[in-house]
Amino acid sequence: MRAWFRKRYLDVLGSVYIYNEHRGYTAIDDLLQAVRSRWPDDHAFIAKIEKHGADERKHYLMFRRWFERQGRMPLAVDRACGHIDRFVAIMFGKKIDDLDHSTVVNDERLFERLCRVISLTEQRGYRQVETLLGNPHVLSDRMLTKIYRIIKEDEPSHWAPYDGWLEANGKRMPKWWERAIDGYIHSELLMLKIPILFVSPWLRRRTAWADEPERGERLPQAGLLPG
Ligand SMILES: [Fe+2]
Ligand SMILES: [Fe+2]
Repeated sequence: MRAWFRKRYLDVLGSVYIYNEHRGYTAIDDLLQAVRSRWPDDHAFIAKIEKHGADERKHYLMFRRWFERQGRMPLAVDRACGHIDRFVAIMFGKKIDDLDHSTVVNDERLFERLCRVISLTEQRGYRQVETLLGNPHVLSDRMLTKIYRIIKEDEPSHWAPYDGWLEANGKRMPKWWERAIDGYIHSELLMLKIPILFVSPWLRRRTAWADEPERGERLPQAGLLPG
């Protein structure tokens, strides 16, 4: 029972993380294009966002490798489990995919709002990883522990560019009510959505990797992989 619980817990956790990492770097790719055309000469800002996007892609690939080593695909979780998806939906009234990034970067009010949303999401990510690095199930998996250590190291450089932009442009930092929304989204995920995933036997696995939807790559059978 304990072994089953541990396996299911890590399976759900990894599936939620790989979704969020993929969401992260794809959304940053869109943002980056808009920032490049809005501030083409701000090389420092562009470089920081590029680094952020590259890190999130690296995180995604680490989780992908973790699943590949187990010979299975992640559970098919969707944007209901995406922290930034929920945050953008609440703050902008639309899905991230429907957010027109060039409109956002050309309207300071919208851009500062987005900077605060990204910054809070990244700070939340850091605190969550700190918690997970004290979790015995996570610590019992060496590869996963290593992944979370790397994420923890990367995370502070992820909110810095957006805080830096707010500061340099005389904009305010997140207020208590924005922090409250962030806290609400997090507890909804933790207390409601993850427990539901945990006990949902009908939950299917992805049939293709999120970064290769067209190929529908087939995995070897579980048990055929070493380790
Ligand atoms: Fe990440
Ligand atoms: Fe991050």
